[in-house]
Amino acid sequence: MASPPDTSKTTKLERYNSYLRRVNSSKLLSSSSKLLFRSLLLISLLLLLFFSLSHPSLSDPTPSSTHRRLYLLSSALYGPSTSTFTPAIERLIRQSSTPRRPSGLSILVTGAAGFVGSHASLALKKRGDGVLGLDNFNHYYETSLKRRRQDLLLHHNIHIVEADLNDSPVLAKLFDLVPFTHVLHLAAQAGVRYAMKNPQSYVASNVGGFVSLLEAAKAADPQPAIVWASSSSVYGLNRASPFSESHRTDQPASLYAATKKAGEEIAHTYNHIYGLSLTGLRFFTVYGPWGRPDMAYFFFTKDILQGKTISVFKTQDDKEVARDFTYIDDIVKGCIGALDTAEKSTGSGGKKRGPAQLRVYNLGNTSPVPVVKLVSILEGLLGQKAKKHVMRIPRNGDVPYTHANISLAERDFGYRPTTDLATGLRKFVKWYVGYYGIQLKVNSNNKKEGGLKRTGGEAE
Ligand SMILES: NC(=O)c1ccc[n+]([C@@H]2O[C@H](COP(=O)([O-])OP(=O)(O)OC[C@H]3O[C@@H](n4cnc5c(N)ncnc54)[C@H](O)[C@@H]3O)[C@@H](O)[C@H]2O)c1
Repeated sequence: MASPPDTSKTTKLERYNSYLRRVNSSKLLSSSSKLLFRSLLLISLLLLLFFSLSHPSLSDPTPSSTHRRLYLLSSALYGPSTSTFTPAIERLIRQSSTPRRPSGLSILVTGAAGFVGSHASLALKKRGDGVLGLDNFNHYYETSLKRRRQDLLLHHNIHIVEADLNDSPVLAKLFDLVPFTHVLHLAAQAGVRYAMKNPQSYVASNVGGFVSLLEAAKAADPQPAIVWASSSSVYGLNRASPFSESHRTDQPASLYAATKKAGEEIAHTYNHIYGLSLTGLRFFTVYGPWGRPDMAYFFFTKDILQGKTISVFKTQDDKEVARDFTYIDDIVKGCIGALDTAEKSTGSGGKKRGPAQLRVYNLGNTSPVPVVKLVSILEGLLGQKAKKHVMRIPRNGDVPYTHANISLAERDFGYRPTTDLATGLRKFVKWYVGYYGIQLKVNSNNKKEGGLKRTGGEAE
């Protein structure tokens, strides 16, 4: 016989089921309210960002963070390869490029976050020219240094558009927005030895990037005059000295040099076909504050301070390796001289209307210094002996000797370097210890050499 149903068990089961339903529905409620809360938070954040974009001066009075955030937002909205800027960014671009003095220049400086580019941008802005920077902030050396230079520029209301030279839509848009009178083209893959590691980066920036800039400039109306950085490395295996612009440059010793030489030939072509005014400047080993960490004077300083051994090169026939070290301020004066004497391009809308200026100049110091001398000056300034390993220069592109004949630049725009290596290195070391917050051991020798007593603090 079947036993009667156990009602107490059924009731328990029902109660348990109803408990589960309550738990589930409250879970559902709590997860949907979480979702609602998150969406509200996201919407308010977006609104806040949008508001700060339209009113940068209200939301943040410091130019540095405002500019950088604006860029980041624009790239987040449109992607890095965009030809569209927000109205706020267009306003910044125009403000940055507008001269503050009558008949001031309006200059696009490529490579503005770089060593030479940051110095040149500041000097131009200080005399009242309008300056807009362009840089891709690549990782060839520490990007933090490029960002600090960018902050310095922003402090002087110089905006840097973060883009690659090969981003043609961005270049076209910039020339569309601003009637630049000049371009100071300094962006490039620099360094001789890195070409063994990453050869394509030289071709991409120094050949492809240059062509893409010239294409944009030739199509612009008005066409700007272009002053650009070639290099002393184009002299390659040339042995006639001092190096003069009339010497042969068809034997480059590195891929870097070959791309700079290619740039000089490309400049000829665009001058010939489109009437672009083009001036190439062959810089000789530039050094100074805010310099490039991949260069010998910079990493020697670092290694000497850390007690590491430095490799000092001699030539294959055991002679001293020497460089015509040129102080940054002298190079900047040369760039400005070239900009001020550059004639207008003659073409418009991609058509040549007449012959245009085509120039090449050496910008050096006219006094080569052996690298061992550089090391001994640094030892004096740092108050520390270097551990030296003297070795033959590897056959990877470095040349044994450079020496500039600068008479052409002197004749045409009064270029006359005024800083000797000891004075320039002293300024560099002063910046270096300030920037990296280093405490120097100062001894009597160091004082005699004009060594540094100041430590820590911010760089100039
Ligand atoms: N410093 C020297 O001793 C020296 C000597 C001879 C020639 N030069 C030339 O002078 C110029 C400036 O040199 P520097 O020492 O200031 O070098 P740098 O590396 O400090 O500056 C170059 C800047 O260009 C940017 N850049 C590189 N490729 C780019 C690209 N495709 N698009 C946009 N930006 C890009 C980099 O991010 C960098 O900030 C370069 O053309 C270099 O070849 C320098």
